[in-house]
Amino acid sequence: MSHLNVKAGGISLKEPGILASGILDENGYSMKRILLEGAGAAVTKSIGIDGRDGYNPPVVVETGSGILNAMGLPNPGIDNFSEEITLAMKAGKPVIGSIFASNANDFLKLAEKMSDYGVAAVELNLSCPHVKGFGTEVGSDPALVKEIVSTLKGSISIPVWAKLSPNVTDILSIANAASDSDAVVLINTVRGMAIDIYARSPILTNRYGGLSGSSIKPVGLRLVYEVRKELGLEIIGVGGISTWQDALEYIMAGSSAFQVGTALWSNGRKVFSEINQGLESYMKEFGVGNLMELRGVAIR
Ligand SMILES: Cc1cc2nc3c(=O)[nH]c(=O)nc-3n(C[C@H](O)[C@H](O)[C@H](O)COP(=O)(O)O)c2cc1C
Repeated sequence: MSHLNVKAGGISLKEPGILASGILDENGYSMKRILLEGAGAAVTKSIGIDGRDGYNPPVVVETGSGILNAMGLPNPGIDNFSEEITLAMKAGKPVIGSIFASNANDFLKLAEKMSDYGVAAVELNLSCPHVKGFGTEVGSDPALVKEIVSTLKGSISIPVWAKLSPNVTDILSIANAASDSDAVVLINTVRGMAIDIYARSPILTNRYGGLSGSSIKPVGLRLVYEVRKELGLEIIGVGGISTWQDALEYIMAGSSAFQVGTALWSNGRKVFSEINQGLESYMKEFGVGNLMELRGVAIR
């Protein structure tokens, strides 16, 4: 499988598919298992300075073509997460620490701890769409994004990835503000909602949530393509990937690697090995030596 290896966001991956933040990654055993079954790396659940319980249920609704969630960033807090990372790293593949905070100082504290725990890179959650004071509220302010990314780049030695939101008017100004990072990760979930017509009320306790799964693939592809074409940044694509064809679309739009989240639930853990096999067959059929030869080939 050597020709599936890629360099993305300052790290080397044996396989190009990465477990996305928030799906089967709140504990080390499940991350390790997914890594052993064909993911090239795993991103942890987003971790903050203090633990949070998240919102009361319902926190997830199936919409037919995707999933709407408003979990509320439940997590045990950074001081209680080192063991999970140690466990996941036993798979011998990179583990990436996802972190969230409301200011550059807290992001730096979290990144330093993640780095001490042994992660290969940190992914900044600048994009969770449903928690006040965090996520998109931070990630839609270009000056704040720039300050956070440059603070971390000036202080820690591991790569820094900036995960951005599709819920902004001008993606290019935000991506540009994050351009000191080793990669931008596009996209987090798309803001949406669902209504129970019998209860005559929103289904999610938080009312609004974030849409993920196959219905958001065209949105993610457009943002990856636009940022790659206009700014030439290194990109890790995510949003609605469940097959090797979806993954190839993201690569051809300009991604160096890709992440898979919701499809772990719809397709099961075998999704990574199936994608790897499909990519290999395509490359064999069309004489492609390394996947990176296809990066951005669709850009016009
Ligand atoms: C239940 C759930 C929880 C998530 N939690 C996080 C999170 O903690 N941090 C984060 O950056 N993204 C989180 N995401 C977003 C995913 O990492 C991903 O960006 C998004 O779901 C789009 O990819 P997909 O269509 O493959 O799921 C979450 C998504 C879901 C469905």
